[in-house]
Amino acid sequence: QDTLAAAAERTGRYFGAAVAAHKLSDSTYVGILNREFNSVTAENEMKIDALEPQQGQFTYGNADRIVNHAIQQGKDVRGHTLAWHSQQPQWMQNMSGSALRQAMLHHVTQVASYYRGKIHSWDVVNEAFADGNSGARRDSNLQRTGDDWIEAAFRAARAADPNAKLCYNDYNTDNWQHAKTQAVYRMVQDFKSRGVPIDCVGFQAHFNSGNPVPNNYHTTLQNFADLGVDVQITELDIEGSGNSQAEQYRGVTQACLAVTRCTGITVWGIRDSDSWRASGTPLLFDDNGGKKAAYYGVMEALGGD
Ligand code: G3I
Repeated sequence: QDTLAAAAERTGRYFGAAVAAHKLSDSTYVGILNREFNSVTAENEMKIDALEPQQGQFTYGNADRIVNHAIQQGKDVRGHTLAWHSQQPQWMQNMSGSALRQAMLHHVTQVASYYRGKIHSWDVVNEAFADGNSGARRDSNLQRTGDDWIEAAFRAARAADPNAKLCYNDYNTDNWQHAKTQAVYRMVQDFKSRGVPIDCVGFQAHFNSGNPVPNNYHTTLQNFADLGVDVQITELDIEGSGNSQAEQYRGVTQACLAVTRCTGITVWGIRDSDSWRASGTPLLFDDNGGKKAAYYGVMEALGGD
């Protein structure tokens, strides 16, 4: 029986899933994870609030359960995420200015050093751009420390784990026409031109009727790749069901396969019931762990059987 991981690997890519540590005791869940996926992302366990709940006190237990499971099973790990305006512990939410900048860089250095050699790709910075038409940075306590906070985070991550691929990760950056997409593109272009260490751009790819898979998706991925970075689909889920959902999953997979530097796809959960979305059926496996039409759409696009 073919699997997503095996089919993706034959194209030189990985196929991953977001994993929650507390589900590693669910045998249906772990059975699918071990069989179908060769990359994992911690859904919440490597966020700042999880790893540094008190300033300077790091708690790696739940993250380690996921990383150790992945390593034992021969899977890669995507690290998510070192610097973000959200999921900050209370102490960080209360900080600003140079103290916050220092605390953020200390967090990046500590965590990336702790996991040095174990992480395939790090989402160094997550969701730093505003929605809408401004093309501006998102306002946040980190952004208010100065525009250069993003490159400072990337430099700290490179110093701490020189062999990990360092990614910028965001959502609603799928449509090439959108101002947010263009703004991220310009930042990556600027980083490449100035030698700021960046290796990859993550496209979260949370799709629904208000944010459908754009028909220029391949163009977006290719344009970023042409800047000299890898691109990865990092948090894929697509609202819907049946054939229409399957066709959209097929299209996203084909868009990645059409771009040499699109190195892998991660879905944001395993069964529909594992999704962060409060309702709906956005994933590849049904609540019982059965393969959906969406699964076969991906599998066919990967050339599997
Ligand atoms: O663990 C606590 C639990 O103890 C408590 O009783 C319960 C009550 O609300 O909350 C639990 O924590 C929740 C956590 O998920 C674990 O289930 C948080 O409230 C909830 O906010 C958190 O949501 C996560 C969300 O990120 C937070 O920003 C989702 O699981 C996770 O899927 C989602 O993932 C994000 C990516 O990191 C970034 N891109 C978007 C994506 C989807 O929103």
